[in-house]
This record gives sequence, structure tokens and C-alpha cells, in this order.
Amino acid sequence: MRNIEAYQKSFISYLEDFTVDKEPKNLYTPINYILRLGGKRLRPVLTLMTAEVFGEEAAEAMNAALSVEVFHNFSLVHDDIMDDAPLRRGKETVHEKWDVNTGILSGDAMLILAYQLFENYEPNTFQALAKLFGKTALEVCEGQQYDVDFETRNDVTIQEYLKMIEYKTAVLVGAAMKMGAIVAKASSEDQKAIYDFGRYLGVAFQLQDDYLDAFGNPETFGKQVGGDIIENKKTYLYLKTLELGSASEQSSLVNTMSDNSISDETKVKIVKDLFNNSGASETTQIAVKHYTTKAFKVLEGLNVSEDKKQLLRLFGEQLMNRRV
Ligand code: IPE
Ligand code: IPE
Ligand code: MG
Ligand code: MG
Ligand code: MG
Repeated sequence: MRNIEAYQKSFISYLEDFTVDKEPKNLYTPINYILRLGGKRLRPVLTLMTAEVFGEEAAEAMNAALSVEVFHNFSLVHDDIMDDAPLRRGKETVHEKWDVNTGILSGDAMLILAYQLFENYEPNTFQALAKLFGKTALEVCEGQQYDVDFETRNDVTIQEYLKMIEYKTAVLVGAAMKMGAIVAKASSEDQKAIYDFGRYLGVAFQLQDDYLDAFGNPETFGKQVGGDIIENKKTYLYLKTLELGSASEQSSLVNTMSDNSISDETKVKIVKDLFNNSGASETTQIAVKHYTTKAFKVLEGLNVSEDKKQLLRLFGEQLMNRRV
């Protein structure tokens, strides 16, 4: 097993060979732009690491890892349109740099490219990967629809929120790991366990994403800080403020979110104070820990050596403490 940076490095070099300039330029240039924009590359690293955890060479899982990253970037291009987001990884989003139509079609092409990458595998592996990919991709769409539906609802429960983030984010993290296990021909028990590990880690990851959307450092976060507040997202921070806040904090939150007479900047500031004063910020951090610990519990039952589990735990801890 290698360290996390080594997996990242070999993945990025493979990705760079994949992004070739083709015609029509207005289809492929935005694809290359978003894929080369950087990002943490955490999903493909998980695919490669998992393949090695189950005794396969990481190189064998490279196309599956690339598929996951291309799919992830497709989902970001469309997500940024849906969320009206100006910034991604510190740069202009695709629909801002080009236009919405470009974002739609380049995104569509990326989804197809992601699927095509499975053609590099022999029929049995291809089938297993394609089946998992289809199920996961559809769940991501379902999660994204819930996320949008919740913007205009005022009765979203924590349970509904958790299902939404499981679908929009966590299942892809689980699938990234399960793909590594499929390529390595791990037992179906191990495939299930590593999927669940990734899924819990993915829930923790999205909770932390919600937290950073409000409290990340604008210099380093790479996205518009406060974007979720401006878009009226029903995040964990928001829902917990409604649950834990005093009556006046609760009504202040609801009123501020629907107040169109104040600037975005003022709105973000007031809402962030409510998140902090109600105890919701702290509760979100506790929830991140809770789901990371749940992921670690799943690892215990996995049929692999302790040093491999240790590397996966290290990855989980880094995610939990991330600031970008
Ligand atoms: C952003 O994912 C979308 C979410 C599911 C929160 P990442 O935070 O992994 O984005 P990059 O790829 O590192 O930019
Ligand atoms: C994104 O959730 C989930 C998917 C892209 C499927 P967010 O909307 O919270 O992601 P960011 O914050 O824009 O990266
Ligand atoms: Mg978004
Ligand atoms: Mg979104
Ligand atoms: Mg977010």
C-alpha cells in the first residue's frame, strides 16, 4: 500500500492523458477545464486504495477511478447551474465562463464518457461496474431533486435531510470504494462492507461540506461562502437551528431567509450568527464525528490486515478535519 498523496499523483497523471483536445472545441474545452481544475480527487483515490486493500494493483482500477471522477465532475457542472454558483475550486464555474447550454451539454458528454470507461474491463467486471454505476447515478439524481425540492419547503425533517445527502453525495463515495473492490474481485461480503464504510464517510463528508459552506475560509474554500444560505438550502445547520434555537432565534432564521429586502452579505452574516448561537454549528461538528465513527465501526468486520484498515481510518480522519 502507498500513501494517499502517491495515489493522488498517479491518478492525476492518468487523468491528464485522458483530457485530449478534440472537436468541437465548445464541447470538449469545458470538459477539460473542469477536469483539470483540481479538486481533492478523493473519490478516485478511494477506488485505487480499495483495489489495493483487496490485493489488486491500483493500476487495474485506474479506469474505474477515472469514471468516478468524471461522473463527479459532471455532477458538479450541473449542480453549479442548479445552485447558481459562481465559483468552483477558486475559479469560474463552467456556466459562468461559457453559458448554461454549454454546461448542460458538456455535462451530458461527461456522463457518457464516464460510462464508456467501463468498456476497458472484461465482461463480468464490466457488468458489475455498470450495474453499480447505473444505480448510483440515478440515486444521485434523486438526491439532487430532493435538495432542490427542499429549498421551497419549510417542513423538512432531519430524517429527510439525511436521506437527501445519502443520495446526492454518500452513495457515490460508497460506490467509488465498491468499484475498487469489484475490480479486485473481493467477496460480496467485503464489497458490501466497504460500500457501507464509504457511505457513512460520505454522509460525514456532506455534513462537513454544509459546515464549510457557511464557515469555510473564503481565501481557501474555493466556493462562494454562504452560497447555501443565499440559495435557501435546508442544510443540517439550518434544520438544527430550528430544532435547538430559542423561539426568537427560530423566527429570526425563517424571517431572514425569506427577506428579500436585505443584501446577500447581511443575510449570510445574520444566519451564520444564528447557526453559532443556537448551538447548531457545534452539533454539526458532532454529527460529522458520529458518522465517521460509524464508518470506522464497519471497518472492524472487514477481512483485511490492520495496516490496511489503518490507512482507511487515516483517510477518514483527514476528511473529518478538512477545511477545503
Ligand atoms: C463537492 O465535492 C460536492 C459534494 C459532494 C460536497 P468535493 O468537495 O469532493 O469537490 P472537489 O472535487 O474536491 O472539488
Ligand atoms: C453537491 O452538493 C452534490 C452533487 C454535486 C451531486 P452541493 O451542492 O452541496 O455541492 P457543492 O457545495 O456545490 O460542491
Ligand atoms: Mg452546489
Ligand atoms: Mg447542490
Ligand atoms: Mg455544498
